[in-house]
Amino acid sequence: MTDNTFPINRFAELPTPFYAYSIGLLSQTLQAVSNAAGADAHIHYAVKANANPVILQEIARAGFGADCVSGGEIEAALAAGFEAKKIVYAGVGKTDAEILLGIDAGIGCFNVESAEELEIIAALAAEKNKIVRVALRVNPNVDAHTHKHITTGLSENKFGINLEALLPIAERAVALPSIELSGLHFHIGSQMLDMSPYAELCIKINELQDSLAKNGIFVSSINVGGGLGVDYDDPDKNPIADFESYFATFRNGLKLRPGQTLHFELGRSIVAQCGSLISRCIYVKHGTVKKFVILDAGMTELIRPALYGARHKIQNISAPEGSPIETYDVVGPVCESSDVFVAGGHLPLTQRGDLLAIRSAGAYGEVMASNYNCRKLHPAYFFN
Ligand code: LLP
Repeated sequence: MTDNTFPINRFAELPTPFYAYSIGLLSQTLQAVSNAAGADAHIHYAVKANANPVILQEIARAGFGADCVSGGEIEAALAAGFEAKKIVYAGVGKTDAEILLGIDAGIGCFNVESAEELEIIAALAAEKNKIVRVALRVNPNVDAHTHKHITTGLSENKFGINLEALLPIAERAVALPSIELSGLHFHIGSQMLDMSPYAELCIKINELQDSLAKNGIFVSSINVGGGLGVDYDDPDKNPIADFESYFATFRNGLKLRPGQTLHFELGRSIVAQCGSLISRCIYVKHGTVKKFVILDAGMTELIRPALYGARHKIQNISAPEGSPIETYDVVGPVCESSDVFVAGGHLPLTQRGDLLAIRSAGAYGEVMASNYNCRKLHPAYFFN
């Protein structure tokens, strides 16, 4: 195991708030993914989870592909060294300019989310005299039992094509001369720690492949999306997600056709645990009943608690060992009452100037930061 201890002496010199990433833990995680996935799996890192160029370069160097959801992400992935043919491109609202960017770059596959989008991709490819590889994103109607904002596999979602609508769209894709129907794409949700929805997804995919085969439709790739969860409560105990169980679920559950390739789009489980938001306590405010630790980081730097009620472990990394434990509401400085990291959290006695680490913030942290209140986030810091 890498020593993931914070270089607190170095942190003390830096202006806060900033993200700090352990590159050592990231590379161990990438190794764990590769080991558990096996040589024939294709992993496309979901760039949306963290698009910091240093992080992207590290993941590209490990040989992973990229899962992008915008033209900007395709550009970021290419700039970081991901091979174009290992890029898959999803998203319900691809603009013509973004589609053309993908076609010109020669990306591996467009994950198509509607009949309307298929027609536009086909027309733009035909104008360029190109044949574009397409996977149809299917809504498998599997409940991921996760937060309502990050469940995507149920039929009433804006994402994907419903099961009933799939066959005619697949037939249309086969008939379009500028389209190669190469795959089926699924993604049922995020932060999933229970493997049973994935087992259910495998059954759905097997049934779907059988029924498409009866209609003479075969695809060369199956992409099962991402969604594996991480331990937000105890990142030191479980710094690496349970990749073994995750990949085994698909290995055991999916009946792949001969020659069919299997693709994954993992985001959170690759980058969450290597990142922390480092912030300074500006004030400890003594209210009537409560005590507030007021940080110089807020929902502008990490929006997950305000947006999803997410809980991240918070550590006072300046407090001497053996400090008494106190109860605090840990809040940010932003003018919104939802700017709260935790209400009634337990921390060692905290004082003005202490550094706090908000853990497991490598995924959907820095990348979702905003400039609301004209706030500025300092550059990220990387350590082993
Ligand atoms: N593939 C597709 C089609 C997706 O929509 C997503 C995530 C992924 C892959 C990667 O999923 P992951 O392995 O990271 O769970 N901002 C939210 C999470 C939004 C996830 C959106 N889609 C959060 O902070 O929890």
